Amino acid sequence: MAKNIAILAFSGGLDSTISIDWIKENYGYDVITLTVDLGGGQFSNDLEKRAKKAGALDCVILDVRKEFSTEYILPSLKAGIIYEDNYLLATSIGRPLMAKKLVETAYKYNAKAVAHGCTGKGNDQVRFDTAIKTLSANEPLEIIAPAREASLTRDEEKEYAEKLGIKLPGVEERVYSIDRNLWGLAIEGEDLEDPWVEPPEDAYLITNSVDNTPDKPSYLELSFKEGVPIKLNGKNSDFLDIIEELNIKAGDHGVGRVVHVENRLVGIKSREVYEAPAATVIHEAFQSLEKLVLNRDQSRMKNFVSNTYSDLVYDGRWFSGLRENLDAYCKSSCRYMTGDVRIKLFKSKCEVVGAKSPYSLYSYDLATYSNDDKFKHGSAVGFIDIYSLPSRIQRKQQVHDELTD
Ligand code: ARG
Repeated sequence: MAKNIAILAFSGGLDSTISIDWIKENYGYDVITLTVDLGGGQFSNDLEKRAKKAGALDCVILDVRKEFSTEYILPSLKAGIIYEDNYLLATSIGRPLMAKKLVETAYKYNAKAVAHGCTGKGNDQVRFDTAIKTLSANEPLEIIAPAREASLTRDEEKEYAEKLGIKLPGVEERVYSIDRNLWGLAIEGEDLEDPWVEPPEDAYLITNSVDNTPDKPSYLELSFKEGVPIKLNGKNSDFLDIIEELNIKAGDHGVGRVVHVENRLVGIKSREVYEAPAATVIHEAFQSLEKLVLNRDQSRMKNFVSNTYSDLVYDGRWFSGLRENLDAYCKSSCRYMTGDVRIKLFKSKCEVVGAKSPYSLYSYDLATYSNDDKFKHGSAVGFIDIYSLPSRIQRKQQVHDELTD
């Protein structure tokens, strides 16, 4: 009789490589590896060889960069999601798509289980498991998490690999735990675990340290149509290409580094660093356009939607009715998000230096202090008279303290 199959999320690193054998030994399943390429250039080109050498039955590699950019990054941009004011959620939006591909591949190969490399301490296990359970609710799949179940230390993992006769390049080097995709990198471990220690330069992979950035600024122009970035420097471009290009350009200027102590869903505080050059530039540009086209009430509501959406995504509830509802709000809020934004990149700073939109609510005639001023100053007097009415009545009837103290 054919053995049961498990589809294992596979990066080619030490954890996922030894997981192949671990699943075979502990569950008796055959293992098919699945590598989901979310961009950011993270995989070696001998994945298939590595997987098969470690005992995999087959090795599937999917390039999902396009789907990631349009179905995951774009809604996140439109919603303006940033966790705890710092983290642009690259990992958090990547996991649901990986989970979706695990489930699809499992059904395709008639597999009984899916497996991922998360430990029992992080948010990623919650994101994977919640997404997998949700997407497979009608036909449940078993979930295997070798790192969570076996909790091997790095040294034990190395020994395990040695016993299997597997040699992986770079295993002896000091290792941060890195998650990387098109939208950014999350780096944890080693010296970063002490919030008092300045993150060492070698923790950063795609952004220059300020000392190595160019001595001249770069100016960029990013154009949006209904909230979607469509042109970089006047040239029509696919969103995916814009992100890839900006990662290089902004990374060169050292833009997009963040050092963050964050509140994990599982209750632990963790200290990590992030690199998100393109995401930082695109978010900044998007927000500056919002300042022109949304009025005050809309901006306040948008902040509320962004915060709710951020927590929802961070907490692993991408596939939820609430997210769909919020997407509908963001779609509506992007209706007039068309225009151009000028950005200056210099010495690790990304500064918006200009923005324009055919739907801008900014009126020079009303804002100017010059002779062109068309604002009716006299009207302000009547406005303030009514506006101050409630506080004046209250002052007379109830409040006497401050002036008489
Ligand atoms: N703290 C971030 C999050 O929960 C990033 C986790 C990234 N994982 C890693 N292996 N570095 O989304």
